[in-house]
Amino acid sequence: MRKWIVAGNWKMHNTISESVRLATEIKEGITDLKNGEVVVAPPFTALQKVSDALRGSPVALAAQNMYFENKGAYTGEVSPVMLKDTGCSYVIVGHSERRKYFSESDETVNLKALKAMASGLKPIICVGETEAERNKGITEAVIGRQVRAALADVSVEMLAGLVIAYEPVWAIGTGKVASPVQAEEVHDFIRRLLVEIYGCMAEDVRILYGGSVTEDNIAELIAIEDIDGALVGGASLQAGGFLGIIGKMP
Ligand code: 13P
Repeated sequence: MRKWIVAGNWKMHNTISESVRLATEIKEGITDLKNGEVVVAPPFTALQKVSDALRGSPVALAAQNMYFENKGAYTGEVSPVMLKDTGCSYVIVGHSERRKYFSESDETVNLKALKAMASGLKPIICVGETEAERNKGITEAVIGRQVRAALADVSVEMLAGLVIAYEPVWAIGTGKVASPVQAEEVHDFIRRLLVEIYGCMAEDVRILYGGSVTEDNIAELIAIEDIDGALVGGASLQAGGFLGIIGKMP
């Protein structure tokens, strides 16, 4: 049985005090998490204070990005050692906004994923096609390339800590959530690809859906066999909406 995950990606939102308030409201709203995990990914500046605020709660902490070296002359970057120091256990890698605006490539996603796992951080590796790619009928080719590239040199022993998030770019922040059929097709494709690469051990890898998830549409998505949870943007910025999504989980 794979445990579900609901992860909130706060993106470039919230000051430290706003982040602490939101994290505290989420912590106070969560009662029982025996079948799943809740993760929040505040901006870097708020990680330590949110970590302090979440102490004693089951809510896990994620960063939204990291660099693939422990230290050095890399102005502006943040290392896995630094993230672990704040209490992070997860890190989002290869979000489409990083691919689009910050030149993140399949190769750097792979280096970051490998480094995260070697450092004891669980990467949430994001993949997803653009609207143009879907319209051209190359969704599976794009997702296949992204997944294979991200997992280059990832051994079967490393799979335990791995999470994949399927986030169709056209669904992010648009209110255009993928239909259950569209999501199911791609989740099933990713699962089959993982099984082709890693065999039955790949059955344990969690695959999250992301893109305009709300408390109103999560139920029909989570009902799908290969959807193991959600990576939530906009709806994770208000405790009520985020807790509403968590409340719909099995
Ligand atoms: P929205 O939920 O705002 O569409 O964002 C999804 C996302 O990018 C999460 O990483």
